[in-house]
Amino acid sequence: MAKDKSIFTCTECGGTSARWMGKCPHCEAWNSLIEGAAEPAAGKNRFGSAHASLAPTSPVLPLSEIEAADFERHPTGIDELDRVLGGGMVEGGVVLIGGDPGIGKSTLLLQAVDALQRSGMQTLYVTGEESGAQVALRSRRLGLMASQVSVLPEIQLEKILHTLQARQPGIAIIDSIQTVYSDQLTSAPGSVAQVRECAAHLTRTAKATGTTIVLVGHVTKEGALAGPRVLEHMVDTVLYFEGDTHSNFRLIRAIKNRFGAVNEIGVFAMTEKGLKGVSNPSAIFLSQHSEPVPGSCVMVTLEGTRPLLVEIQALVDSGGPSPRRLSVGLDRDRLAMLLAVLHRHAGVACMDQDVFVNAVGGVRISEPAADLAVMLAITSSLRGKALPKGFIAFGEVGLAGEVRPAPRGQDRLKEAAKLGFQVAIVPKANAPKKNDKAFEGLTIHPVERIEEAMNLVRSMG
Ligand code: TYD
Ligand code: MG
Repeated sequence: MAKDKSIFTCTECGGTSARWMGKCPHCEAWNSLIEGAAEPAAGKNRFGSAHASLAPTSPVLPLSEIEAADFERHPTGIDELDRVLGGGMVEGGVVLIGGDPGIGKSTLLLQAVDALQRSGMQTLYVTGEESGAQVALRSRRLGLMASQVSVLPEIQLEKILHTLQARQPGIAIIDSIQTVYSDQLTSAPGSVAQVRECAAHLTRTAKATGTTIVLVGHVTKEGALAGPRVLEHMVDTVLYFEGDTHSNFRLIRAIKNRFGAVNEIGVFAMTEKGLKGVSNPSAIFLSQHSEPVPGSCVMVTLEGTRPLLVEIQALVDSGGPSPRRLSVGLDRDRLAMLLAVLHRHAGVACMDQDVFVNAVGGVRISEPAADLAVMLAITSSLRGKALPKGFIAFGEVGLAGEVRPAPRGQDRLKEAAKLGFQVAIVPKANAPKKNDKAFEGLTIHPVERIEEAMNLVRSMG
């Protein structure tokens, strides 16, 4: 039973109810009631205390009269992490870091707070998933001897807030937000209502005290941060861990950053002594084939500032009555679209075939510049013929069969040339002018349409 301090709000019509019901009593929507704390008496907002220093009514001023103070940044000293953060942790900033279990969130954050503590910052590591002893064990394993990081094993929000107010650390890690619960709500830790309420309180505290707060969040099977996407709106920076837990490489991507560029990536290798930055990552996502194999095509992605070469693999195999289309690391709807374009504009039919595509190494590629490589890998698998040795391709493919340019195409080509690739098929608008030394050794074939690309590949044998 709900206590009287809870109230349930309908996500559809905004109506409220004193108890949980399957159907909203106002708009009759099903399963739309979400628990929240009841509004306290007038003048006593439940965010009041943490909010106090922001509360005095601020004067309205023209922008030009407001001093544009830069953010106070604290580099963690872990270069790849600082890169995704946009230069370091920001005072009063709130960072959400998500990823699969076991991918290395706790490891990286412990390394980061230890480095900050050694640089003289007060730190606090709140652990709700592991005991203090387990965190200590990890720190020994990481070789962080005589670490002065303060650890608080606690999951109750009010106690955590109290410690934050009392100690005013420079940075606090909450590992993880799903384990924290507030007394104000009756729902279980990890529920949407709890996660949202706790994150909101912690965010207010960060802004009021200037403490940087890092929230660790779990990812559901579908790949979204468990519970609410609403967390993403509340915080300043959202980082996601990517990569295959079976491979040694981990990627961290900034998908939102109020203090830096988005889509910037940091690359790490998991070692016995924790995560180590990889400063020159462009070639780590290539599998090592001694001879080219059918169904494989390398592309150059450029998300953030660094080009990254990723191998796209496809397997086309005769399917049953309803053939399957599966993709790992690439968008499945886009795959269906590309198959239709292949059929219609290049005469390559996969209607009765199962089609599987995979981006090697657990990387997620969201940019459409992967289209051309995906289509070439599929046709290569279907024909059972490998693409030439040292081959790369990139470019977006439209519904009309046109090959559109990818942003910063020349930077991608330069990276491929640097790594010794020899043949490239690229959108016409991305092709460099003749005689540029930077592309030496790389024969570049510009194309405007998908059929051109297919014919070129066929002529290559
Ligand atoms: P962890 O940081 O606990 O993951 P998360 O907090 O994201 O759930 O790291 C988990 C994995 O990393 C674990 O399976 C063991 C491995 N690991 C190493 O390989 N080397 C190390 O130095 C450490 C601490 C962990
Ligand atoms: Mg953990």
